[in-house]
Amino acid sequence: MSAPLTVSTGAEYSRLMSVASFRGSRVVDNAEMCTHIDSSDEWIQQRTGIIERRWATEEETPAYMCVQAASKAIERAGLEPEDIDAIMISTVSNFRQYPSLACEVASILGIPSPAAYDIRAACAGFCYGLAQADGFIRTGSAKHVLIIGMEWLSRQLNMQDRGTAFLFGDGAGAAVVGPSETPAIGPVVWGSDPAQHDAIWTNDWFDALKTGEKPVVHMNGRAVYLWSTTFIPEKAVEAVAKAGITPDQLDVFIPHQANNRITDSILRRLHLPDNVVVSRDIKHMGNVSAASIPLAMDALLESGEAKSGDNALIIGFGAGLVFAGQVVVLP
Ligand SMILES: CC(C)(COP(=O)(O)OP(=O)(O)OC[C@H]1O[C@@H](n2cnc3c(N)ncnc32)[C@H](O)[C@@H]1OP(=O)(O)O)[C@@H](O)C(=O)NCCC(=O)NCCS
Repeated sequence: MSAPLTVSTGAEYSRLMSVASFRGSRVVDNAEMCTHIDSSDEWIQQRTGIIERRWATEEETPAYMCVQAASKAIERAGLEPEDIDAIMISTVSNFRQYPSLACEVASILGIPSPAAYDIRAACAGFCYGLAQADGFIRTGSAKHVLIIGMEWLSRQLNMQDRGTAFLFGDGAGAAVVGPSETPAIGPVVWGSDPAQHDAIWTNDWFDALKTGEKPVVHMNGRAVYLWSTTFIPEKAVEAVAKAGITPDQLDVFIPHQANNRITDSILRRLHLPDNVVVSRDIKHMGNVSAASIPLAMDALLESGEAKSGDNALIIGFGAGLVFAGQVVVLP
C-alpha cells in the first residue's frame, strides 16, 4: 500500500475582513450618452435605473484601479501586503492574455509570493472568487486571500449600439478574506447555463486582427433579461436557505448591478421586509460586471446605510451565462 498523504486543514470558518473600491473618475451622464446613440435620459432611467456611469481615464489602467482598491482593502483589514497568501482578480476587460493581472498587481502592491491568478466569470466573478477564498481558508491552502473585481468595460463598447452602449462602467472593488471564529460566509449557490453561452459575447481577438475592428460587447438583451428575472430569483432564494436563515433575517441585499428592474424582480420573489437595505449603486455607476458587488458593498458601508456585522445576500450573474451567490456577514 502507498504511504498515506498529509492533507492540509485550516480555520473552521472564514469571513470578509474588509472591502474597498475605486471608481473611474470620468462621470458620463445620460445626456452625453445620447450624443452617441438615439435614446433619452427618460428611456435609460426607466429601463435600467442608470442616471450616469463612471468611466476610467487613460491613466486609470486596470492595474491602477486594482491597486487603488486593494491597497485600501489590505490596510482596512489591518494587514500588510506580505500577509496575503493568494490574490485573484476577476475581470473580463483586461485585454492582455498573460501574465495574469493578479501577478502584475501583486508586484506593484509588494506581495512577495502569493498564489496569483485571474478569474473569468463575468458578473458572477466576485462571488466565484469568494467561494474559492472560503475553500482555501477552510482547507488551509491560504490564510488571507485578496479578491479584486475590476472592469474597464468602456473600452469594449460599440458606441453605435443602442442596446448596450449606455449600460456599462469602469472601476474596481477589493476584499480581504481571512479566518473566522464564527460562520460568516454561507454556502455558495453557483452554476451556469452553457446553452446560453452566446447571449453576451465579444469578438475573438484573432478575428479582430484580421478585420481591424476591436472586440466589442454584443448582447441579446431580451434573453438575458428573461433569464435574470426568472431563474436568478430562484437562486437567490436558494442561497438564503442554504445559509440556514430566512429572508427576514437579512439586513442587506446586494445584487449584481445590472438593471434596477432585475433587482426588483428578485426582491418580489424574496419577499424581503421593507427595512432591508437594497443596493441601487447602478444609478451612478452603471453595470461594472465583476466589480459591481464589492463597489456596491463599499458604498453602503461608507454611507452608513449598512453596517459591519449585517447579514447580506450577494448574487452575481452575467456572460456565460453564469451565476453565483451567497450570504455573507459584512466586514
Ligand atoms: C438592454 C435592455 C434595457 C433593453 O430593453 P428592452 O426593453 O429589452 O429593449 P428592446 O430591444 O426590446 O426594445 C424595446 C423598444 O425600445 C427601443 N430601444 C432599444 N434601445 C433603446 C435605447 N437605447 N433608447 C431608446 N429606445 C430604445 C427599441 O427600438 C424598441 O422600440 P419599439 O418597441 O418601438 O420597437 C433590456 O433588454 C435589459 O435590461 N436586458 C438585460 C441586460 C443586462 O442586464 N445585461 C447585463 C447582465 S450582466
